[in-house]
Amino acid sequence: MAKTKTTFFCQNCGNQAPKWLGRCPACGEWNTFVEEVVTKDEPVAGNWRPTATTKTAAKPKAIHAINYEEQERTLTPDSELNRVLGGGIVPGSLVLIGGEPGIGKSTLLLQIALGLNDMRVLYVSGEESEQQIKMRAERLPTPISDCYIMTETSTQNIFRTVEHFEPEILIIDSIQTMHSSLVESGAGSVSQVRECTTEFMKYAKESGTPVFIVGHITKDGSLAGPKVLEHMVDTVLTFEGDRHTTYRILRTTKNRFGSTSELGIYEMQGTGLRQVTNPSEILISQRDEALSGIAIGSMVEGNRPLMIEIQALVSVANYGTPQRSSTGFDAKRLQMLLAVLEKRGGFRLGQQDVFLNVAGGLKVEDPAIDLAVCAAIVSSYEDIAIPSSSAFAAEVGLGGEVRAVHRVESRISEAEKLGFKEIFISKYNIKGLDTSNFKIKIRPVSKLDEVFQGVLM
Ligand code: TYD
Ligand code: MG
Repeated sequence: MAKTKTTFFCQNCGNQAPKWLGRCPACGEWNTFVEEVVTKDEPVAGNWRPTATTKTAAKPKAIHAINYEEQERTLTPDSELNRVLGGGIVPGSLVLIGGEPGIGKSTLLLQIALGLNDMRVLYVSGEESEQQIKMRAERLPTPISDCYIMTETSTQNIFRTVEHFEPEILIIDSIQTMHSSLVESGAGSVSQVRECTTEFMKYAKESGTPVFIVGHITKDGSLAGPKVLEHMVDTVLTFEGDRHTTYRILRTTKNRFGSTSELGIYEMQGTGLRQVTNPSEILISQRDEALSGIAIGSMVEGNRPLMIEIQALVSVANYGTPQRSSTGFDAKRLQMLLAVLEKRGGFRLGQQDVFLNVAGGLKVEDPAIDLAVCAAIVSSYEDIAIPSSSAFAAEVGLGGEVRAVHRVESRISEAEKLGFKEIFISKYNIKGLDTSNFKIKIRPVSKLDEVFQGVLM
C-alpha cells in the first residue's frame, strides 16, 4: 500500500508548505495554495529512470581537465527561432515555450516540426486529436515531411514509445496535459507538472534528444504556471502578443546556451506564422502627408534596434479630471513625462486629455523612446507635424534634460537604413561616436527646448 501524504503547493511559483497559506511567502501572490496528494512510491516499469549513473559516485574534476567540444547545433529553417535559441537547437536540451492559450505555440512547434525535413520529429499532443493536427498542418505552407504525430498524455507510455521509435526531436504539447503515474494528483497540478518535466529532463540528458515542451500561462492561475518549471529547464522562451493583433514576439527569458536578450518577431497569418525579418518597416505606418502627434522613436529589443511609431492625441478635457491613457507604454512614465513637459517646457497639459499609443501592439520598456513620446505629445498639443524624416533616440530626465542611451550607434544605423534624414540624440552620446561613418544628420541636444525649437518651430 502506498504511503499517501498531502502537501500544499503555490500554483504560481511551486513553493511548498505543510499547511494552507493565504499568501505565498516566496512569490507574494495571494490565494495560490492548493492541496495535492503526493505518493511516495517505487518507480514503476516503463518509467525513464537513470541507470548506471546513480550507482557510481561522481568524482570532482579539475576544470582544465574537462574536455569540451562545441556541440553541434541543429539549425531549423526558422531563423527567428535559431536566433532566440542562441544559434540553433542544442542536443539534449530541454526548451520550454510558454504563452497564453491561443497565442500560437502549437502552430509554431508544428511548423518547426514540419520544416525539419531530414529529421525524425515526434510531436506528442495531449490537447488535440490527430485529425485536428493534420487539419492544421494542411493550412501551413510547409510541405508535410518526416513528422510523426502521437496523441498521448501518460509519460510512461510516451517513454515506452520513444524507446523503440528513437525520435531526433521530441515535442510535448502541453506539459499541463501530461500525467505521470508516480504522482497521484491530477494533470496540470504543480506536483504533476514538476514530475513530468523531471522525467523529460532525464530523458533529454540521457538520450541527447532535444525536447520542446509547451507550457500554458493563465492569468487566473488555474493551471500550474511555467514559472514552476523555469529553474529546471535549459531554455525558456515566452511567446507574447495581443491575440487581437497579428504580431507575436518570441522572447528568450532564460538560456543556458546563449544570451537572454534575443527576440524573434512573427506575424500570424491565415497560413500560419510568418517570420518578420525587417520589423521596422511594418512598425512604421506608411503615410503620404505628415500628421501632428506622430513621432518615430528608436527602441532596442534584445540585440535588435527597431524604429517604432509613437502616436499621441492631446485634446481639451471636457469632463472633469483629464484622462491619461497609454497603450504599449508605461502609464506612470507617461505621467512623469507630462509633468516634465509642464514644469520644464511650460506646456499647459494639466487640463488636457492625453492618449498615447505605440503602433503595432508592441510593449516598449526601453527608456530611449522618451524623447519620441515627448515630441509626439508636444506635436499634437501645438498641432504642428514633425517632419517624417526625423527620428528620436534619447531618454528624458526629471530636469528636462536629454540623457544618453545605450547602443546609440546601432540605433543611428537603423534609422539611416530606413531612410531617415536626421536623428535627435543626447549630447552626452556624442563622445566616442564616429559621426563621419553616418550619412544621416545627427542632431545632439541636451535640453528638451532645443528639440522643440529644432523640429516644431
Ligand atoms: P494555437 O497554435 O492553437 O495556440 P496555442 O497552442 O498557443 O494555444 O493557435 C491558435 C490560434 O492561431 C487560433 O486562434 C487560430 C490562429 N491561427 C491562424 O490565425 N492561422 C493559422 O494558420 C493557424 C494554424 C492558426
Ligand atoms: Mg496549443
